[in-house]
Amino acid sequence: MSQSRDTPLTHHKDAPIFLVGFMGAGKTTVGRALAEYLEYDFFDLDELIEARAGKSVQAIFVELGEAEFRRLEHEAIRACSERSRAVIALGGGAYVSEENRTLMRTIGRTVWLDCPLDICLRRIGGDTSRPLLGDEDEMRELLEERRASYAQANYVVHTGELSPEQLVIEIARLLNS
Ligand code: S3P
Repeated sequence: MSQSRDTPLTHHKDAPIFLVGFMGAGKTTVGRALAEYLEYDFFDLDELIEARAGKSVQAIFVELGEAEFRRLEHEAIRACSERSRAVIALGGGAYVSEENRTLMRTIGRTVWLDCPLDICLRRIGGDTSRPLLGDEDEMRELLEERRASYAQANYVVHTGELSPEQLVIEIARLLNS
């Protein structure tokens, strides 16, 4: 159901935990539950970006463009290096850049919520706040493009239909293994 790889040995035990995965994979829901279980703080990277920019993600894409969003995203990840005992839910594109992956590897540990596309689509369908939301074929293509990046996370959990509570137990087990 899940596995770990390349578990970093250099982080202190309170280093941040980043949840990686596609739109609709459950990063925010599971992240909140995981933070509560571990008695960590929870942050949603998109919300940190919005607070820093003073605009919604949607407005950043429309008014400033995706490249600027990715720059702000990188800065927000960098700022996470100051946090400890924190679970951070990333946006679906944040783990795609090599630079971001390297940065997160130095800051903390990453967990990929590998969620089947049909479940992601069921959750995100019709959500107009996601600027990159396209039709099913476009989403399949985007997920396939990103899969190799997501797979570089330290741990992977195949979410299937597991509940957030079940996923929290599984992630906590992996993090302690
Ligand atoms: C994005 C996913 C979004 C948000 C932005 C870009 C992506 O976050 O960061 O719209 O590139 O997949 P969620 O994964 O929380 O929807």
